[in-house]
Amino acid sequence: MKALVLSGGSGTRLRPITHTSAKQLVPVGNKPVLFHGLEAIAAAGVRETGIVVGGTRAEIEAAVGDGSRFGLDVTYLWQPEPKGLAHAVKIARDYLGDDDFLMYLGDNIVADGVTTLVERFRVERPAARIMLARVPDPRQFGVAELSADGRVVALQEKPREPRSDLAVIGVYLFNSVIHKAVAEITPSARGELEITDAIQWLVDHGLRVASTITTGFWKDTGNVPDLLAVNRVVLQQLAPATDGVVLGSELVGRVVVEPGALVTGSRVVGPAIIGPGAVVTESAIGPFTSIAADCRITDSWIEDSIVLPRASITGVRRIESSLIGQDVVVTPTPDPPRGHRLVLGDHCKVEISS
Ligand code: TTP
Repeated sequence: MKALVLSGGSGTRLRPITHTSAKQLVPVGNKPVLFHGLEAIAAAGVRETGIVVGGTRAEIEAAVGDGSRFGLDVTYLWQPEPKGLAHAVKIARDYLGDDDFLMYLGDNIVADGVTTLVERFRVERPAARIMLARVPDPRQFGVAELSADGRVVALQEKPREPRSDLAVIGVYLFNSVIHKAVAEITPSARGELEITDAIQWLVDHGLRVASTITTGFWKDTGNVPDLLAVNRVVLQQLAPATDGVVLGSELVGRVVVEPGALVTGSRVVGPAIIGPGAVVTESAIGPFTSIAADCRITDSWIEDSIVLPRASITGVRRIESSLIGQDVVVTPTPDPPRGHRLVLGDHCKVEISS
């Protein structure tokens, strides 16, 4: 069995972060989302992994390398345009050959991993096994309808009137018949080759599509609220450790201070992580906050947020539920305040009290 990890796409919902970097590399608990997926694949005993990459290819290759760090043997597969999940399978056709494969969306986090799913697939050998989760609003997902014995009998892509609350989530297992399905389907109304259409093709041709309903935590990190939710869950699983320098500060609960970090005159409330080389001075951090490498946080209060490498935040009374990009600089207005001076890139979102 091989793995196929989808790490192309355009990431429009995570702009402006995705103007400059890959959404799969945004860190949660200071570890890229994609790494969580690669670790789950390795834990399931799969080694040969094709990673589908698009415009952010160089960045993903630099971060993942040959995969040996994860116990994987990684091959990069170039997708010139993000024309859909089934299109990604199409471009991986030669790499996958006639092998079974585990397809994993590189921006998804599945807390329970994929090992059980892989094992059941190996024993039962259906044409496909897909992972489902019950969601409150299925209209933004692929939705599955099941028979009494758990077979998938129909799929709808982002339906206005969902026939169940079972969303298709980012982990799929296929045998090589899927390539025939992918070759037969045509682009959807949004111009993409949909994996749900390819799976529906399997169902329509009498092939068995099994399903597993996960009850564990699962999220697609495609937008900021979901990314912050994943960050909260990942932080809660970290083992507290103080490997950096902490002076005249209070660390409360599950706090990680990574090597080379310096925390002075501050209060850090866990779960929270302070990245290597970060300097936190006279500030309050957390709970649920990830401060990445080499950030400077001075005289500020930040909670429920992700701050990416080298960002600098000074004199801000309270930042919450925020995603702050690499090298961003946030400073206070001069005293007395006149107006806000902003240099914001395309697609930034800012809330200001006025
Ligand atoms: P999506 O989140 O469905 O698509 P997207 O990345 O284009 O994001 P947005 O909707 O915000 O514009 O993609 C799920 C995963 O699959 C993600 O890791 C990107 C990847 N992907 C590809 O590799 N190739 C593709 O053609 C598409 C559509 C997605």
